This record gives sequence, C-alpha cells and structure tokens, in this order.
Amino acid sequence: MSKTMLSLFRSSQLDDKNIERLFSLTTQLKKEFENNGTVKGLIDTQVASEKLVLLMFLEPSTRTRTSFEIAAKRMGCQVTLFDENLSSLKKGETHVDTFRNLTAMAPDLFVIRHGEDQALEHELMGSTIPVISGGQSAHGHPTQALLDLYTLLTELGSLHNKRILFVGDIRRGRAALSSLEIFNRYGAKMGWVGPSELSYQGDIPVQEFSTLAKGSEWADAVVGFRLQTERSQFGFGMAPDEYSRYFCLNSRSLSALKPEAIIMHPGPFNQGIDFDQALLQDPRSRVLAQVKNGVFVRMALMADSLGLWRNKK
Ligand code: CP
Repeated sequence: MSKTMLSLFRSSQLDDKNIERLFSLTTQLKKEFENNGTVKGLIDTQVASEKLVLLMFLEPSTRTRTSFEIAAKRMGCQVTLFDENLSSLKKGETHVDTFRNLTAMAPDLFVIRHGEDQALEHELMGSTIPVISGGQSAHGHPTQALLDLYTLLTELGSLHNKRILFVGDIRRGRAALSSLEIFNRYGAKMGWVGPSELSYQGDIPVQEFSTLAKGSEWADAVVGFRLQTERSQFGFGMAPDEYSRYFCLNSRSLSALKPEAIIMHPGPFNQGIDFDQALLQDPRSRVLAQVKNGVFVRMALMADSLGLWRNKK
C-alpha cells in the first residue's frame, strides 16, 4: 500500500517498491517490539489513540482477525469488533446496508472479510474510508500473501528461481490465489500436487507433480493448503481419508524434503487431513512464524493507512 493507496483489496495493487518499503517497516516494527516490548519508537501512539479500526468479519477467522486486532491495539488504536451474530444481519439487513451504517459512524479504517457478494464488493471499492481486505470469498487474501512472502524472503533470502510447492486445494483457496500471484512476480518456480478437481485455473505457470514425494524432493519450500469443504460449489468427490493418504503433509509424506527446505501452511489446517500437527515441531516448520509475522505486516499496513509513523516513512 503506497501513501496514496489507502485501501487494499488485491495483492496485485502493490508493486515491488511498495512491498520492499512495507517489509522494511515490518522488520523495524518486529525488531522494536522484540527488543522493547513496544512499538512506541516508530508509531505515534498519541495519533493512534485517536484512530478507530473497525473489524468486520462476515466469515470465520482466527489468525487474520486476531492479528489485526492485536496489531492495532499494540499501536494504541481503538478497535471495534463487528459481531455478525449479534447484528441486524440476523434480521435481514443486507451487507451493503450494514456497511453503509457502519460508515456513518466514521471509523478510520475497516478490515473486512466477506464471502461472495458483488454488491458489497462494489460498495467497498467506492468507500471513502480505507478498507483492508481480510480475505474475499475464494478470490483473494492479500495480507496472507504478504505475510507468506515476508516469511519466505526472511528464510530464503530471495525467491528468484526458488521452488515453491503448493499442496492441495488451490482452486478454492483465496490465500493460494493471492500467494501464487505474488510469488510468481518475485521469480519463484511454482509447483503443485493435489487432486485434479482442485488444481489452479489461471495463467501463471505451475508445474504439476504426480506425487507428494516427487514434489517435495524438488521443493525449497512446501506450502500446504486446507481442503475448503465450505466452498463445495466447485464439486469434489474424494473422501477425507483418501485425500489424506495422498496429500496430507506429515513426516512420512515429506521424508524426501531437503533438510534446508521449509514447511508452511496459512492455517487453519484440517488435522490429519491436509496437515499433521506434529509437523509444527519439525525444525523446518515456519507455520507459527507465519502467524507471528502476520501481526507486524498488518501493523505496517495499518500504520500506513492511518498515518501513524512517528517520522514520515
Ligand atoms: N490464514 C487465515 O486466513 O486464517 P484465519 O481464517 O484463521 O484468519
């Protein structure tokens, strides 16, 4: 997000210069917090205390919603959580009308996750208040792609000619689509293994592997994706135990993975179906590092959007 681009809907909105700057700020925030337990040296907490961030999640979330909330609070912002279950959506109010009413209350920034709703999308695009996407249906999840890119660059130095293997459901996964776009832009060679019904449908070259063993032998990083059972409109007939036999990331299926390669998953995972939780203890796992990095990437994005930097960055 540049200083003039206050809303973020797609990873493709960010050019390489925007991302380089954002990641430099992310690293500064992370270091400052790790060293001092505060980001006060970088963030004008007095300005932040006057800003209100409204989190409107119309689909479930743990990592994204909580990391935006924690990031905003650590900068000193006020945060309001819109609770769908206690809202007038339950009385039939539309998402668009809900958003218009929340806009009338003048928050300084929206973070929104939503499902398929073109009227709402149109409304968000025209919003006079900045909006950061917290994930949009099956179409995109830009902040997840950014934190995954940040994690990969931290670990691998550069993505140029690095081999990134995606595993599983990349047809219905918004995180997979945004990450593919951005990793490809950074020069990674993309590979994939999974059931053909869940393959990528776009224009980016993706090498398909017939087995997870072959793909993981090739890879510098393996990124698992959750089987998106809630998005069943794409149709998929494989039973979970069959899926797990071929595509679950675990110590057996990754036995050919190089010792210096890394293992990632944006979460949540279906335990034992797309990811074995025991892998979190594997020294190559960066799954929880992704989560940690997410707080600081999102903090940097919100600081930009709200103008919270102590010195003009
Ligand atoms: N990765 C991700 O978007 O997780 P949540 O759905 O828990 O936010």
